[in-house]
Amino acid sequence: MAATRDKTIISDWRAPPNEFPAKTSQLDIWLLNLDDIPCQSDCLDATEITRLNKFKFDLGRQRYCTAHSAMRAILGRYLDCRAGDVPILIDPGGKPRINHKTPPLHFNLSHTENTALLAINTGHEVGVDVELFRDMPNIDRIAKRTFRDNEITQLEQSGWDKNLFFEFWTHMEARQKCLGRGVFGDAASDNEVETHSLALKKNQFGAVAWAAGNAPTLINLYQD
Ligand SMILES: CC(C)(COP(=O)(O)OP(=O)(O)OC[C@H]1O[C@@H](n2cnc3c(N)ncnc32)[C@H](O)[C@@H]1OP(=O)(O)O)[C@@H](O)C(=O)NCCC(=O)NCCS
Repeated sequence: MAATRDKTIISDWRAPPNEFPAKTSQLDIWLLNLDDIPCQSDCLDATEITRLNKFKFDLGRQRYCTAHSAMRAILGRYLDCRAGDVPILIDPGGKPRINHKTPPLHFNLSHTENTALLAINTGHEVGVDVELFRDMPNIDRIAKRTFRDNEITQLEQSGWDKNLFFEFWTHMEARQKCLGRGVFGDAASDNEVETHSLALKKNQFGAVAWAAGNAPTLINLYQD
């Protein structure tokens, strides 16, 4: 781990092992290339199939299917069940959760274009976000509506650096998703969550968040 700005970058991706003993306070983060994974719609549940059928374009439909079937296959390895048997419920705030197990397994998914991050945390809430750099206009307006005062100050001082914008954006989304709030929900405070950057490829931005005071004792980064 290496320090950057006031956040830590979590790096060192490696191939996953064959078995996943669920340890308390272990956080595993999976980086997936959705172009390399088959889409297996037969393991999706009714909610996912309804979402799948709403996509207008084949590519979006295929990537949603791939992200969700891969997520189910990976969760199935932790829960020792088939992908289609992973019991996922959506809570009232919209956060998908596993509907059982002691100690509980928490997870969070993020996907954009052909890249997905899946964070799996034993015992505690987790949130994750991945974004690809794109040339967004009006980042100052978006930042002023969404970011914290100190982040806005840093962006102003940087001359509205778009890389810094995406870094702050992923941290904000990871925080909100950890608590199961949308990006327009009450802003998560540092008393509630802690965020860290993930080292990804150039033009990819990623962040992970966990509940404050519940830092994992072990973090594994897996890339197939
Ligand atoms: C949910 C939200 C944070 C997702 O952000 P995004 O950058 O578009 O998408 P990401 O790929 O990072 O994350 C999407 C995944 O996060 C998960 N997710 C959805 N809602 C979530 C929530 N409230 N908290 C945590 N995770 C959530 C799902 O697994 C989702 O995957 P899916 O869309 O394939 O089902 C964002 O769209 C948002 O805030 N929307 C507003 C929703 C809202 O306010 N809903 C009100 C209550 S229903």
